[in-house]
Amino acid sequence: MIEPIWLLAAAATLSGVANANPAQFEHRADKLEAHLQQRGDAGAPEAVSPPHYPSPWMNPNADGWEAAYIQAKQFVSQMTLMEKVNLTTGVGWEGEQCVGQVGAVPRLGLTSMCMQDSPVGVRDTDFNSVFTSGQTAAATFDRALLYARGLAMGQEHRGKGVTVQLGPVAGPLGRAPEGGRNWEGFAPDPVLTGISIAETIRGIQDAGVIACAKHFIGNEQEHFRQVGEAQGYGYNITQTLSSNIDDKTMHEMYLWPFADAIRAGVGSVMCSYNQINNSYACQNSKMLNNLLKGELGFQGFVMTDWQAHQSGVSSALAGLDMSMPGDTVFNSGLSYWGPNLTLAVVNGTLPEWRLDDMAMRIMAAFFKVGNTVGSQVPINFDSWTLDTYGPVHFAAGVGHQQINHHVDVRADHGTLIREIAAKGTVLLKNTNNALPLNKPKFLVVVGDDAGSNPDGPNGCSDRGCDNGTLAMAWGSGSANFPYMVTPDAALQAKAISDGTVYQSILANNRPDTTEALVSQDGVTAIVFVNADSGEGYINVAGNEGDRLNLTIWHEGDQLIKNVSSLCNNTIVVIHSTGPVIVDEWYDSPNVTAILWAGIPGQESGNSIVDVLYGAVNPAARTPFTWGSSRESYGTDVLYEPNSQTPQLDFTEGVFIDYRHFDKTNQTPRYEFGYGLSYTTFSYANLNVQKVPVAPYTPNEGYTEPAPTISTTNASTNLADYLFPNSTLSHVWQYIYPYLNTSSSGKEASGDLHYGEPADKYLPPNATDGSAQPYLPASDKISPGGNAALYDILYTITADVTNTGPVTGDEVPQLYVSLGGPDDPPVVLRGFDRIHDLAPGQTGVFSAVLTRRDLSNWDTVKQDWVISNYTKTVYVGSSSRKLSLKQTLA
Ligand code: NOJ
Repeated sequence: MIEPIWLLAAAATLSGVANANPAQFEHRADKLEAHLQQRGDAGAPEAVSPPHYPSPWMNPNADGWEAAYIQAKQFVSQMTLMEKVNLTTGVGWEGEQCVGQVGAVPRLGLTSMCMQDSPVGVRDTDFNSVFTSGQTAAATFDRALLYARGLAMGQEHRGKGVTVQLGPVAGPLGRAPEGGRNWEGFAPDPVLTGISIAETIRGIQDAGVIACAKHFIGNEQEHFRQVGEAQGYGYNITQTLSSNIDDKTMHEMYLWPFADAIRAGVGSVMCSYNQINNSYACQNSKMLNNLLKGELGFQGFVMTDWQAHQSGVSSALAGLDMSMPGDTVFNSGLSYWGPNLTLAVVNGTLPEWRLDDMAMRIMAAFFKVGNTVGSQVPINFDSWTLDTYGPVHFAAGVGHQQINHHVDVRADHGTLIREIAAKGTVLLKNTNNALPLNKPKFLVVVGDDAGSNPDGPNGCSDRGCDNGTLAMAWGSGSANFPYMVTPDAALQAKAISDGTVYQSILANNRPDTTEALVSQDGVTAIVFVNADSGEGYINVAGNEGDRLNLTIWHEGDQLIKNVSSLCNNTIVVIHSTGPVIVDEWYDSPNVTAILWAGIPGQESGNSIVDVLYGAVNPAARTPFTWGSSRESYGTDVLYEPNSQTPQLDFTEGVFIDYRHFDKTNQTPRYEFGYGLSYTTFSYANLNVQKVPVAPYTPNEGYTEPAPTISTTNASTNLADYLFPNSTLSHVWQYIYPYLNTSSSGKEASGDLHYGEPADKYLPPNATDGSAQPYLPASDKISPGGNAALYDILYTITADVTNTGPVTGDEVPQLYVSLGGPDDPPVVLRGFDRIHDLAPGQTGVFSAVLTRRDLSNWDTVKQDWVISNYTKTVYVGSSSRKLSLKQTLA
């Protein structure tokens, strides 16, 4: 039986406490004290998030949402108050079969919607595929593959009866390379992440599944993301971490890919655990009302991360639409919403238009991806057990029936996964034609990262260990392997078919036998090493989600040095969730080749064989910078609380990853966008054409007032909302929309503001349903912000010629310098993967520059503005190999 993930979380946390050295926690408490004294305060919040109300309602004319709006309106207008509440509130942790489910609307034929992880495949089930991680998929720089991956993942979710796939990820963006969940996302560059998330969303939603762009926003580290989790590790905090992000950095970095997600029509967004400028993400009106729904015109629904919900009416007014998994904390049987939301509408605290808007957004997303009521694929798996029969309400242990139908949804996705992992593998070094391999005489493979986990590929729950080869990292962003091809298995099969002598030592700690083996004559040695990370609820070897350092795990550096000191043809393959420090050995002449194979998924071994032997000529580019020390990045995880509400100040602004290395003039080991091929390419003939376009006009005017969707005329008699004992049997801990009592007394409601007029305690304008002014950067119809931001101002072309001996793909990249004193030297703005250029063949790279691409966020105008500084366009093969350049007129 699979352990329920959050029970496991609790277990991991508790065992963390039990095994921990109490002195370590005292030490942590002392450190906090010292920080507080240094700051001269008691942890008083510094950054402040300004309020923004009311919450924008759906726009019937929004591009791509028009038909869904009409369908949703038709459906929602028939719903009762409690049916609408039921749609907004999860049934509680382990209340049903998916990691999250909301209540059904049986009267209208709607079955319960299922929210299921993860961004790499259907989690907690069987007969599903495990895809290449987002980060490794981003390394392909291949839009078509990113789309195909999304489509295939969507098809698998659909086949299991999932309504919302909980992914893809643009937060974390990857501010700090140590960040535990960077591998779930794409890259610490907003444009690469933006394009990647948009393609993935299109794929998922074309399969009939709602995608969920997460985690919104500033969720850049695992430490202190949840109070209980952090306390379990011995940290004395009382509120979650606050990511303190200024307006310009927010727009130019962290919000940017979410704009692309919304433009791609994403149906849902998950708000994160952390606070932004000292206001919780799931009730932050600036983030949800102003940026997400106002400025970006997001038409879908916002759901909380699991237990990220912090309040009742305030979160509803701040723009939240769905509470996940519905209970306040797991299995409390209590909810901020559910009955409280019913009561809030009945007693007039929450205007019904806001509840209607929640229901509209949820149903519109449902229809937008092609669902129809009554024809949903039934949920045919159970997240809490792989047993065929069991309780449908797992937490309560009731409703025994068949819960797992073991539906095989994999199709031939293994082929695609193999291709993506191979095409996402970055060749970092290749000397003396070490690669591709051509029937080597004697191949030796060394390292525990080449073999299997002795407990099997799924032996550690949620992949919470680093035993054997690293093909997936840990946390809720995981899925169960149907099989996993290890590098050892695939290389051995290839070697045997070639007549190569093959031997492997699948351990890092066998110095004697390893040295004896690799010293033999004519050996080509491949050393496999890794570095793992994951989600904060699991602690692997002291790494509480975030990596403790950027070094290779299991003494891998020593292993590489040992092998390469004896073998002059040592090839290194790295599986990791981000950059590692390679300084101790990367320039050794005996290390003839280095490959980064990322987090490849189930076809790991086959993919690396394809690259090592040249069936796939590498063209992937590293989606992050490889520095020579952790300090060289200028950003890091906050590992020790600096306040009881830990404050993570994003003082580096837009200067993360390559932007920081460029600004500080440091030479990284391998720069962002870098990657070699078995052939070579030259670049020529940069051509920049200006496109005539109308000037930018900030949006102005007013929205329509909040529409009247509801036709139910809800009763104000509380007795009408009581649990229907005669028709329904109550499931323990289950969250319902019904009230427990018809008493409206202060004691019964527990309401601190009982009897006070709402405007005494609600923020100004919070319940105002009148027409609202448009924000200048927003659009009347187009999701993603002012449509003019996406006007094409320049088209760019360049010739790319294969100057080497073999056919290969090339990834030309377009960068611009925005020219201002506060701008990074260059920023990525476009790329393409040109396929299969034969030797001597020339292909044309074309890209565009939109208005957004050339703008900065103006914090005074609250809009995008093209500065007067001279702009320069660069094209080349990496962020530092930019051979073509032209100034813009
Ligand atoms: C918490 C994670 O942060 C989120 O990504 C995931 O979707 C939920 N748990 C549900 O498992």
